[in-house]
Amino acid sequence: MRVLVTGGAGFIGSHFVRRLLAAGEEVVVLDKLTYSGNRANVPDAVELVHGDIAEPADVERAAKGCEAIVNFAAETHVDRSILSAEDFGRTEFRGTQVLLEHVRETRQRLVQVSTDEVYGDLEAGGSSKETDALNPSSPYSAAKAAGELLIPAYVRTFGVDARITRGSNTYGPNQYPEKFIPLFVTNAFDGEPLPLYGDGRQVRDWLYVDDHCAGIETVLRSGVAGQVYNVGGDNERENIDVAEKLLVLTGADRSLLRRVDDRPGHDRRYSLDTAKLRGLGWQPRTTFEEGLRATVEWYSENRAWWEPIKSGEYREYYERQYGARLAGSTAV
Ligand code: NAD
Ligand code: TYD
Repeated sequence: MRVLVTGGAGFIGSHFVRRLLAAGEEVVVLDKLTYSGNRANVPDAVELVHGDIAEPADVERAAKGCEAIVNFAAETHVDRSILSAEDFGRTEFRGTQVLLEHVRETRQRLVQVSTDEVYGDLEAGGSSKETDALNPSSPYSAAKAAGELLIPAYVRTFGVDARITRGSNTYGPNQYPEKFIPLFVTNAFDGEPLPLYGDGRQVRDWLYVDDHCAGIETVLRSGVAGQVYNVGGDNERENIDVAEKLLVLTGADRSLLRRVDDRPGHDRRYSLDTAKLRGLGWQPRTTFEEGLRATVEWYSENRAWWEPIKSGEYREYYERQYGARLAGSTAV
């Protein structure tokens, strides 16, 4: 099979590329190389088309000769969507529509990689099922939901072969250090503060990147057109507990952990019911302990990957996001 992986220079997409290569498939990557896209994530043997999923000509050029498209391309950070949401609408909605218009003509299979955040947050107890209503609460999750809603519409109206995955919070090597786990790990290595939002009791379901990619591969190969599949780690943790584990694994001093002003609209808890995908033979295989250890080790051994990222544009973002917060921070 020849597969186009859009957003394949980012975190999860690049792991998915390596997974397909290991399975003997041919891969092409289409990536806009935004701040989180990184050429170094794409194996040399893979053709990288520098372009935009919201541009029909770029999609047509990259998708030539492919049987399937797996769409990872997105603006992906909730905090950035709160600072400025413009690009989120364009990539998540317009980009998905361009991909759907493309496969409407070519009849290529499309897998849309979405997120558990489209369900909105849940009180303690209970998990989201694929049939639950979408109730997104951040500009990021609302844009992801908007893009996703086009999928069943094109399946029903035009008979395209498209499926959706909704993955939970993913962690592992190669994740851009703006997200919680790589931010805390790299800051801990640099002796910089670890900014914990609000009371730190928010709950996320953590999924190791290889398990997330295995779930998406299962849906690509064995899923049914028009269907949605949750991909979760069955591993719900409060942020404060994850932070404590990272302090131990990095050997950093506890005084680095700082309580800062909360994220506006901060979702309290996500939780996924994964019975449907498990029914196709998939299950998460990496324990949180193994996954976190492997992740911390990778960041420790690959400073050359993340140190250059933490300058320039990143510094500006960091100052906007954390400058005032850290100035007013308190001990945890
Ligand atoms: P990432 O930010 O590391 O990667 C996104 C990639 O998309 C980057 O390489 C970027 O350059 C590329 N991109 C952005 N806009 C583009 C455009 N218009 N055209 C082409 N390429 C474009 O993000 P990630 O964490 O790897 O997330 C990948 C996908 O998985 C996203 O769709 C995200 O919503 C979804 N997801 C992520 C998580 C998570 O915890 N990271 C969880 C569930 C779902
Ligand atoms: P994040 O990695 O941004 O993922 P998402 O918001 O998409 O779930 O954040 C994970 C959790 O960690 C979330 O509850 C917000 C929290 N968080 C902090 O407490 N401090 C931080 O600096 C960041 C980036 C996140």
